[in-house]
Formats: sequence, C-alpha cells, structure tokens
Amino acid sequence: MTRSAQGAKTLPGKYYTDQAIYELETRNIFSKKWLYVGRGGEIPRPGDYFLLETEGESIIILRDRNLKVRAFYNICRHRGTKLCEVATGKFGQTIQCIYHAWTYRLDGTLHGAPNMHEVASFEKSDYPLLQVASAEWEGCLFINLSDNPEPFEQAFAPLISKFSKWQMTELITVHRIVYEVAANWKLVFQNYSECYHCPSLHPALNRLTPYRNSSNDLMEGPFLGGPMHFAEDSDSMTMTGRVCAAPLAQLDEADLRLAYYYTVQPNMLLSLFPDYVMIHRVERDGPAKSRVVCDWLFDAQAAVKPDFDPSGAIEFWNITNQQDWQVSELSQLGVSSRAYQPGPYAELESMIAAWDREYLRTLKENE
Ligand code: FES
Ligand SMILES: [Fe+2]
Repeated sequence: MTRSAQGAKTLPGKYYTDQAIYELETRNIFSKKWLYVGRGGEIPRPGDYFLLETEGESIIILRDRNLKVRAFYNICRHRGTKLCEVATGKFGQTIQCIYHAWTYRLDGTLHGAPNMHEVASFEKSDYPLLQVASAEWEGCLFINLSDNPEPFEQAFAPLISKFSKWQMTELITVHRIVYEVAANWKLVFQNYSECYHCPSLHPALNRLTPYRNSSNDLMEGPFLGGPMHFAEDSDSMTMTGRVCAAPLAQLDEADLRLAYYYTVQPNMLLSLFPDYVMIHRVERDGPAKSRVVCDWLFDAQAAVKPDFDPSGAIEFWNITNQQDWQVSELSQLGVSSRAYQPGPYAELESMIAAWDREYLRTLKENE
C-alpha cells in the first residue's frame, strides 16, 4: 500500500508541555477510551488482585469467585477511605476496610457494615463498591473509566480476531521491565510508529528487519501498524536473530517471516513475533514524564521446557527500548524549547501522521 504522510508536520510544542492539554487528554481520552492494564495471568485464581495506580486513581483489578475479572475504585463507600494499599495479593472471601471494618464481597456487594442497622434508612444494597468497566481480550485486561463506555467489542472491532493465530490467551509473561521515561507519552508512541530512525539508532535491529521492509495493514484510526519482513538470515527479534523458542503453533508460513507492530491508542504497543509477543503499557505521569511497563510473553508450554532461554529476546529489546527512550527524552527537551517549530514528517513517518490525526480528533471530539 502507498504510504503518505500527506505533508503533515509534527505537533506544536504545547501538546508536549502544557498542563491544560494534559488535563484535556484526561477528560477526552483517558477517561473515555479502553485502557490496557495488564494480563489475565497476573490474577489466575479467585481472589487474586493487583492495584492499578493510574490517571490519579487507584483501581482494584480482581478475579471474583466465578473467575470473572472485575475492576473497582479502591475506595470505601463509608467515608471514602482507600481500601487496599498492597500492590498485589489475594483477597479471602471479602475485602475489609481497616477504618470501621465494612466488608465487601469480591463481586463488590457490601457484606458487613458494623452497627449500621441503627441507621433507619441504611440499606447495604445501596453501597456496593464503585465498579469500573472491564474487559478481557486475548488474555489482556482492559478497563474504561467512563460511566457510559463504548462497548469493548465495538471499540476493538478491527482487532478482535486479528491476532487469534498467536493464541495470546495461552501466553505467559516471562519477564517484565518498568522504565521511567522523561518524555511525554505521545513521543513514546510516535517513536514506535516509524523505522526511519532504525538505521541510525538501532543498527542491530535494522540488520534483522531492514527499515524499508515495512508495510501497514491498519492505516487510519485508533489502531495503526503492520508487518516488517525479516532479512534472509534472521527469523526473530533476538540478539542472534534466531527464534529463542519454537514458533507459535498456529502461525502460517508467511507469519514466520514477519514481525508485526501495532499502536493501540491510548496506552498499548503490541509487537508480535514468530516465537513471542511483547507488550508495552505506556502510562502518563505529567506532561513530561511517562512510565513504560514492558512484558515479554511466551507460550506456556515452551516456557516450562528445561532448555527454555528467553534472554536473547529480553536483552535485544531492553537495549532497543533504552535507545528509544533516550531519543524520546531528547525530543522532549527539544520540543520544550521556545525555538521549537513543527517539522515535516518523512514519508516513512506516515503512521505518525495518522496517529497524530487520530489523537487530535479524539482530543477535540468530546470537548
Ligand atoms: S471508611 Fe471504610 S469502614 Fe469507615
Ligand atoms: Fe526505535
């Protein structure tokens, strides 16, 4: 397909520095869109939970008695006290507030409220935990902070069955690295959206997948990206250029020669290779800072083999990630200058131009 940046230019500096823009993003993007929060495998059993501290909110993500994933604001319905402080763990039958010992079942309903029977009008059923919409897709967990969210299946329609060959539900996280990046979240997405920088910044990556070997199969909208062809003598993104686990069983011949990269607005980068999948979760932390949680996912069967060694994939991307964060941080410094002016995108940056269009459309549409 023909790529075109349509003569677009980079975003003005205020989008990377301005607190008012940041808050507009909070209202119109991060409070409305489905946010990737982690993997179902982090909470496999009833009662397992983790806390998501994001967007100024604390959310409990748990698996209930019926193995359904639920998300709740981490606040007591009595006097609003934060219920749970420990980042991950397992609840028993209930969640108890330490203040006056109100207890909630794992489905959020209020179970016990000591002495409240003395209040004539009090009904336990009026005070369940405040639920946040959640969804589980391909083993990935999402929440939506809107009171009236677009149904997940509708919002994710272009992706729903697109990656079924990778059988991502069967994949387990074998490694996680959390990076603190001194750059606006959009610079992380924009950097991921092009390989124009690969020859100069990532010579090792560029040997495995030469930068012009790329095409796109999603070219407009909230999900963008497509495949890159491996060079003849490589078949995965690792230190050696060779797979470090058996290729995922359902992939066809063509997929074994491709690495796929997708941006999933507003907080997920999805990278799929013949033998593993990598997911970046990008979290905002003010206009000039981001936290990036990078997970390496392998087939559960492959990961229990005695000779399983994912280090070649982990090291490869840890090096590449840090190269990318370095230029993202340098970009943040430059676009914060009073002298910065939007510059022209190359044709090889057409996906950033499309990403920016979708970002601006979403930012404004709910104003
Ligand atoms: S604030 Fe939680 S029981 Fe009182
Ligand atoms: Fe890069």
